Amino acid sequence: MASTIVNTPCTVSSVKGCEAQNYVGLRPISSLKLSSARTSTSGRSRPLHVVRACERFDGHVKKAEMSIEECEAAVVAGNAPEAPPVPPKPAAPVGTPVIQPYQLTRRPRRNRKSPALRASFQETSISPANFVYPLFIHEGQEDTPIGAMPGCYRLGWRHGLVEEVAKARDVGVNSIVLFPKVPDALKSPSGDEAYNENGLVPRAIRLLKDKFPDLVIYTDVALDPYSSDGHDGIVREDGVIMNDETVHQLCKQAVSQARAGADVVSPSDMMDGRVGAIRAALDSEGFHHVSIMSYTAKYASSFYGPFREALDSNPRFGDKKTYQMNPANYREALVEAHEDEAEGADILLVKPGLPYLDIIRLLRNQSPLPIAAYQVSGEYSMIKAGGVLKMIDEERVMMESLMCLRRAGADIILTYFALQAARCLCGEN
Ligand code: PBG
Repeated sequence: MASTIVNTPCTVSSVKGCEAQNYVGLRPISSLKLSSARTSTSGRSRPLHVVRACERFDGHVKKAEMSIEECEAAVVAGNAPEAPPVPPKPAAPVGTPVIQPYQLTRRPRRNRKSPALRASFQETSISPANFVYPLFIHEGQEDTPIGAMPGCYRLGWRHGLVEEVAKARDVGVNSIVLFPKVPDALKSPSGDEAYNENGLVPRAIRLLKDKFPDLVIYTDVALDPYSSDGHDGIVREDGVIMNDETVHQLCKQAVSQARAGADVVSPSDMMDGRVGAIRAALDSEGFHHVSIMSYTAKYASSFYGPFREALDSNPRFGDKKTYQMNPANYREALVEAHEDEAEGADILLVKPGLPYLDIIRLLRNQSPLPIAAYQVSGEYSMIKAGGVLKMIDEERVMMESLMCLRRAGADIILTYFALQAARCLCGEN
């Protein structure tokens, strides 16, 4: 066996878009079981996708009739054995102009000639391991569809959530981020429910960690789901969002999430100084191992509309422009990135995704830290709507948009398409 490639946990024998059947010498071996094979939630062991190079024709080892010396002697004597002729040049359609070929030193199409060549020169790759799956949860037992986000649900935290996570893990998506729909009665101007140790998010984290100890859980750190004003921070009488007082609350929120078992806390509030304050708060409580993914360049975007419907978290008045960034600004992302790096962020996030590819590339070039991109609700819903209306091929546009985020420099992508795209990558539908 020349080489063996063990893929991510997928039951399937080919990866869509890879056109594996076109590669002579590559074939899937589904019978092989490895001791390291992951076990799915249902307990059945998953066959891993193993591809073996060479040995294409099993059992066809031909017995040599002539020795090497005899073969060579025949060729030297001018009796070369027959091989198929070069196929004739394919005919051009009638009416094609007959011209002298142009003298081009470079014809870039040569490297795009066949699926095998295209696969060889593909610069960017994408895998389910790059996805973080955002999940909406609520106190109810049922999963309720979100009107503005076809295919997304507010999941009951006890059942629907656990089932969705199991489905995602089955196709290699092992990272999720939680967004709670909080009952109005628990919302307040100071958002204190955000750090209730027995609140919806800490409860869901504990349940998930109990069922799937190796699941990577990201949390959102911001007051908006808990704020009666629908803002990410505490609102003063005159409408000003109070920075340092909000950060004080966010620290408590992050610590309560870490205590429940969160792996990565993700401040999405855009208050100044929150990364450093949260780092210090986590460390002082012994959570040195908990990472911070900072929403570094989060823009005041209209692409968040469907999300706010999902959580019923529209600001009661005004907008978020005094804390989220102006979509017209590029250099300002560097100011935020320098601060977040200096304050100890582990991951820098850009949000939204596709309309802000230049910012993703900027941070990728300027920082050695991992970069995350958030393909937000509006981006998701537009692709879904275009697909439903048969204006675009939903699946292809989905995969292309995710690949483009990777090409721009995103290591990980937060996307509502995580499950659908991972199934696609695994050849499932
Ligand atoms: C709030 C938060 C928002 C999103 C993630 N966290 C909305 C907002 O800032 O108003 C948006 C995500 C999406 O649109 O998918 N802290």
